[in-house]
Amino acid sequence: MKSGDRVEFPQVHDSRGNLSFIEAGRHVPFEIRRVYYLYDVPGGAERGGHAHKALQQVIIAMSGSFDLVLDDGSRRWTVGLNRSHYGIYVGPNTWREMENFSSGAVCLVLASEFYDEGDYIRDYDDFRAWVNR
Ligand code: TYD
Repeated sequence: MKSGDRVEFPQVHDSRGNLSFIEAGRHVPFEIRRVYYLYDVPGGAERGGHAHKALQQVIIAMSGSFDLVLDDGSRRWTVGLNRSHYGIYVGPNTWREMENFSSGAVCLVLASEFYDEGDYIRDYDDFRAWVNR
């Protein structure tokens, strides 16, 4: 799987609304060690602005919408997220930014590792040097 690929979750529709589920080892291409979420993001705020050396993630718009900007060091592209039945895979060595959060947006992230500041690359020039090493 490569960064930017969609990860679809099962959907159960009925007259009472929709239900989706995510089962460990089945719907996400890594073992989930951590789940975190962004909420109450003020209008105009940007999140992300870093890459990871090893971490794998699936990023989901649980509610509302936002744009996910991905950059592999040679190409930069934007994926709009506004549905909760799929996520976007973001693998190692991918710079990511999140912007244009709608009011009430919730961004849920499934992650392959516990939080580790040592896995972050927070400077874009360092990221370019890292991917071109
Ligand atoms: P950061 O990853 O920079 O946020 P984002 O990518 O969403 O903009 O994290 C912001 C702060 O939160 C930073 O001080 C580290 C802390 N943090 C944790 O303690 N645990 C976590 O799982 C995450 C994702 C962040």
